[in-house]
Amino acid sequence: MTDYRKLFDLSGKTAVVLGAASGIGKSSAEALAALGARVLCADRTQDGAEATAAAIRQSGGSATAAQCDAADRADVEALAAKALAELQRVDIAVTTPGLNIRKTILDYTEEDLDRVINLNIKGTVWFFQAFGRIMVEQRGGSLIACSSVRALTIEPGLAVYGSTKAAIGLLVKGFASEVGRSGVRVNAIAPSIAETALTGPFKQRRDIYDLYAGHTVFNRWSSADEVATAVAYLASDAASYVSGSTLFVDGGWTAVDGPPTGLTQLAR
Ligand SMILES: NC(=O)c1ccc[n+]([C@@H]2O[C@H](COP(=O)([O-])OP(=O)(O)OC[C@H]3O[C@@H](n4cnc5c(N)ncnc54)[C@H](O)[C@@H]3O)[C@@H](O)[C@H]2O)c1
Repeated sequence: MTDYRKLFDLSGKTAVVLGAASGIGKSSAEALAALGARVLCADRTQDGAEATAAAIRQSGGSATAAQCDAADRADVEALAAKALAELQRVDIAVTTPGLNIRKTILDYTEEDLDRVINLNIKGTVWFFQAFGRIMVEQRGGSLIACSSVRALTIEPGLAVYGSTKAAIGLLVKGFASEVGRSGVRVNAIAPSIAETALTGPFKQRRDIYDLYAGHTVFNRWSSADEVATAVAYLASDAASYVSGSTLFVDGGWTAVDGPPTGLTQLAR
């Protein structure tokens, strides 16, 4: 019988998580390490990456830290070189940083547009290139990018952000088709509302916080850990036949398009 438990086990595997200082990236680094992987935690700030790595080491895992700006191609290439030198191979590479400048299209400036595209689209391409090359060479690996429910559904002020997240879904499909024969898998996760530093300000506005919660079938926000478990699955051999996909970890956000009105009772 297949050893199913072993398929989820990441012992002996190596991982890089970019965006590891906070939120979904931090939880992903912790999850991968808890399942046995040696993790290189990277972030824009060395201190933040080091704090996550130190916490992992403290709980018995194996982790180191690096500084990297996900929007800077040379930085991402340097991170890949460092990872290879330190870990010898890279089985798993996760990137989470994303920028949302919440403005209507009428208000978007060229600078806003460049900043969002540079990190969300170009950053994902640089990450796929740098780590994809290593994985093609070693003939195996799992790349995981970060999309959003905003790749599918939108609200005013999120058109640019949403279109970059939709682009990530197609980058994932395209790169999966290019590297699949080398044994490399490429996927994305798409959260809806996860409580992180990014979404912290919503907590100050209880009305909006609750309104968003009501969009999910559970009527609640997720933790970052609940997204990280999906990352861990995609990283593992349990997902050996999964590539080119975006896994929605959205509490049913994209399954429903209306509030729970109780109309079933009316229909009776
Ligand atoms: N939190 C949510 O509800 C939610 C929902 C949908 C999608 N997302 C997506 O999830 C991803 C992660 O969001 P989060 O909520 O964990 O955010 P977060 O702010 O908690 O964490 C993001 C991390 O990325 C780092 N970072 C930012 N810019 C960087 C750069 N240029 N280079 C390197 N590191 C950089 C930050 O320092 C931080 O550690 C984003 O792509 C976001 O669009 C989040």
